[in-house]
Amino acid sequence: MDTRRILVTGASGFLGWNLLREPWADWEWIGSSYRHDPELGGPDVVRTDLTVPGAIATLLDDTRPDVVLHAAAVTDLNVCERDPDGTVQINVETPATLAALCARQGIRFVFTSSDMVFDGRNPPYDETSQPCPVNIYGLQKAEAEARVLAANPEAAICRMPLMFGAAGPWAHNFLPEWIETLTHGRPLMLFTDEYRAPVSATVAQSGLRIAVEQQVSGILHLGGEERLSRYDFGKLLCEVWGLDSALLQAVRRADVDGMAPRPGDTFLDNHRAKGLGYRAPSLQEQLTGLKAEGRVA
Ligand SMILES: NC(=O)c1ccc[n+]([C@@H]2O[C@H](COP(=O)([O-])OP(=O)(O)OC[C@H]3O[C@@H](n4cnc5c(N)ncnc54)[C@H](OP(=O)(O)O)[C@@H]3O)[C@@H](O)[C@H]2O)c1
Repeated sequence: MDTRRILVTGASGFLGWNLLREPWADWEWIGSSYRHDPELGGPDVVRTDLTVPGAIATLLDDTRPDVVLHAAAVTDLNVCERDPDGTVQINVETPATLAALCARQGIRFVFTSSDMVFDGRNPPYDETSQPCPVNIYGLQKAEAEARVLAANPEAAICRMPLMFGAAGPWAHNFLPEWIETLTHGRPLMLFTDEYRAPVSATVAQSGLRIAVEQQVSGILHLGGEERLSRYDFGKLLCEVWGLDSALLQAVRRADVDGMAPRPGDTFLDNHRAKGLGYRAPSLQEQLTGLKAEGRVA
């Protein structure tokens, strides 16, 4: 069988970098980034601004993928909130255009969306739950999902939960940032009223692999099993990493001014994914595994 080629957009970002760092065997990998060159020492990465007219068609012509896994986006909630017009192109128009071109060219399209499409008031959310975002980022993701499926009904929409792990040279992730703060003996303020069911990048990748290799169509929730507040996640991190939990400061979302509205509890029902073989180990196991790898901090 010919090796199939997969194009990952957002290769310099948290998820893309993690995907390309440990590429699945039997696939030829290629990445695309925008401002940064991730040093991967393996797959080629093309630098392209996907919002430039014609850039997407050129990228597909140049790379000729069998699958596009689209992970490029502006993911900072506060940036999207401040600048909806400046972020709509990459967060909505780009996935819609990519989905349409992929449909026309017979390329499978997998779009990474977010639990932020929900308002966090009525969890758990399954794949039939109606999006009801509370911030611009969530609104853009929900609109992108609808546009992707309208243009390409065979596409997979993978709604990702909060993810954690090593972040590569250019991307951010809260986990190494929390570890750095606590290691230096600095206090860390964490919400007690924002609940998530996070997964490591490794678990997220296993879910995306299911979507790609089992040719999933439609919406797929790739959430974790354990729902906990950010504060409780901090406590678990301290336990696993041997850090001082007395440095954790409990805050509520309402205590912090000037941030984009954030949903309270976006717990995703992941039964569809589990039926396809998706498994998220306990957070204790995931964190212990990451610590043993020694790559986060
Ligand atoms: N991280 C999470 O916890 C989380 C949770 C739920 C859903 N998601 C979703 O998962 C996906 C990946 O998220 P992430 O955390 O990996 O994002 P990220 O770390 O913020 O990375 C974003 C990527 O998008 C690229 N990009 C931004 N603007 C671009 C443009 N105009 N043209 C081409 N590329 C552009 C960036 O390239 P440069 O750095 O080279 O500029 C970067 O590689 C996104 O769809 C996100 O919505 C993430």
